[in-house]
Amino acid sequence: MSMHNVVRSPSEDDADAMGAVHVRAWRAAYSGGLMPDEYLDSLSAQARANMWRQQLAQPVADRSARFVVENPAGVVVGFALIGPKGNDSDADDGELYVINVDPESWGTGAGPVLHEEAVDALRDSEFGRAVLWVHPKNHRARHFYESRGWRADDVDRVETVLGVEIVEVRYSLILY
Ligand SMILES: CC(C)(COP(=O)(O)OP(=O)(O)OC[C@H]1O[C@@H](n2cnc3c(N)ncnc32)[C@H](O)[C@@H]1OP(=O)(O)O)[C@@H](O)C(=O)NCCC(=O)NCCS
Repeated sequence: MSMHNVVRSPSEDDADAMGAVHVRAWRAAYSGGLMPDEYLDSLSAQARANMWRQQLAQPVADRSARFVVENPAGVVVGFALIGPKGNDSDADDGELYVINVDPESWGTGAGPVLHEEAVDALRDSEFGRAVLWVHPKNHRARHFYESRGWRADDVDRVETVLGVEIVEVRYSLILY
């Protein structure tokens, strides 16, 4: 057993853990009005796990990478995905599509090592710049990104979830 958080690429066997982390992280991050409660309540760890199982059965796309982080007890407590911006294989920029850590593991260093691997992978894929999208009221995540060099871009987008408009702001990080 390692004394550290360990980052590795996931296999299909990690789908259940990823589904559970996904739902727990979203409920912790987006309750209190950031996303509709009905939407957060409707999230199913099982459904998310099935989605991840299907994705993990596919080979990873060009210039993309998937990571999970295990805590010192060997339990998967987070995951991250990177690749070309907007899933467009012709994009010049990369994107951090998702980084989710189980709320019980927030502040343990699992998020930082996962982020570091994700940024290394973006650089290894030779993107000069990366972007991500974050809810403007997700203060913890914004602080996390800002202390790691990401800067708000002054670009917004709006998505509709169950009839409710969710705003996201874009951040970018210069890689080279
Ligand atoms: C984003 C995430 C991966 C970061 O991992 P983490 O373990 O929580 O990160 P850390 O605890 O190392 O860092 C969080 C920082 O925000 C600070 N913070 C905590 N709550 C805060 C708040 N309400 N407002 C501002 N800053 C806050 C912490 O003090 C810490 O600052 P520090 O690095 O200067 O000590 C994790 O919180 C997560 O999975 N969140 C839910 C999903 C999510 O929002 N993903 C990103 C969507 S774009």
